[in-house]
Amino acid sequence: MNVNSWLTAAKTTLKSADSELILLNAINPSLDRSWLVTHGDYILSKTAAKEANEGLKRRAAGEPLAYILGHKDFYGREFIVGNSVLIPRPETEELIDFVLNLKPKKVLDVGTGSGCIAITLALELPRAEVTASDIHEPAVAIKNADQLGVNVNFVVSDLLDNIDGNFDVIAANLPYVDKSWNWLDDSLKYEPDEALYADDGGLLLIKKLILQAKGRTKYLVLEADTSQHSAIIDFAAKNGLELVEDRNFVVCFKY
Ligand SMILES: C[S@@+](CC[C@H](N)C(=O)[O-])C[C@H]1O[C@@H](n2cnc3c(N)ncnc32)[C@H](O)[C@@H]1O
Repeated sequence: MNVNSWLTAAKTTLKSADSELILLNAINPSLDRSWLVTHGDYILSKTAAKEANEGLKRRAAGEPLAYILGHKDFYGREFIVGNSVLIPRPETEELIDFVLNLKPKKVLDVGTGSGCIAITLALELPRAEVTASDIHEPAVAIKNADQLGVNVNFVVSDLLDNIDGNFDVIAANLPYVDKSWNWLDDSLKYEPDEALYADDGGLLLIKKLILQAKGRTKYLVLEADTSQHSAIIDFAAKNGLELVEDRNFVVCFKY
């Protein structure tokens, strides 16, 4: 089977252009879409055809493309993802901009997952000391730091329990989804529950961190759903934090 015949057959299973990316990834992940246009007659190896067919089936069943390809772009760089970590989201890129504006020398990313926040900050702020923590061993984040050639200090910790020292900025995209929200996308079932859901309307971990971070940082930059911001801002104000900015998915406080 050649490229053109595979793509034509794929259209019956999947309407989107994702099938092109699945095929390219199976042939050679370093190729881009323009290669397909000029190589319609290219004969697929058995291995590539099998991998592409499996990827197509998984995508048609609703699995996110990033897990099938094994990577996702974030802030202009490619991060490895596996189904043990959340797929980096475009809204989290705004959290990066908030932190960069604060020009920190010492930063902590709590709940690092793929490492996309900590690693991006370390690359954008080469003189800063960056620590990243997660409740699970951050194996994927360590791989990403290695592949992107950056130094991040990784720690396994439940929030700040095993974290030493103080920071200029603590940034966190913690689990904040409430399981009862009825607008949740079906594809979330492919991502780890511990990366997505939290009790207390999704605010349990965010509230705990607001309390724990007192005396440990100058600024706290949090991602949460926009519908949660007023509750977070109220809770933070009751605990003595000053709101710096609240924009889209990100809310920034000063202690
Ligand atoms: C929403 S994901 C964010 C992943 C990544 N920072 C990103 O923005 O794509 C939340 C992460 O927090 C971690 N996590 C959950 N509970 C935690 C806790 N109590 N302490 C530290 N990390 C936790 C999860 O393992 C997961 O990696």
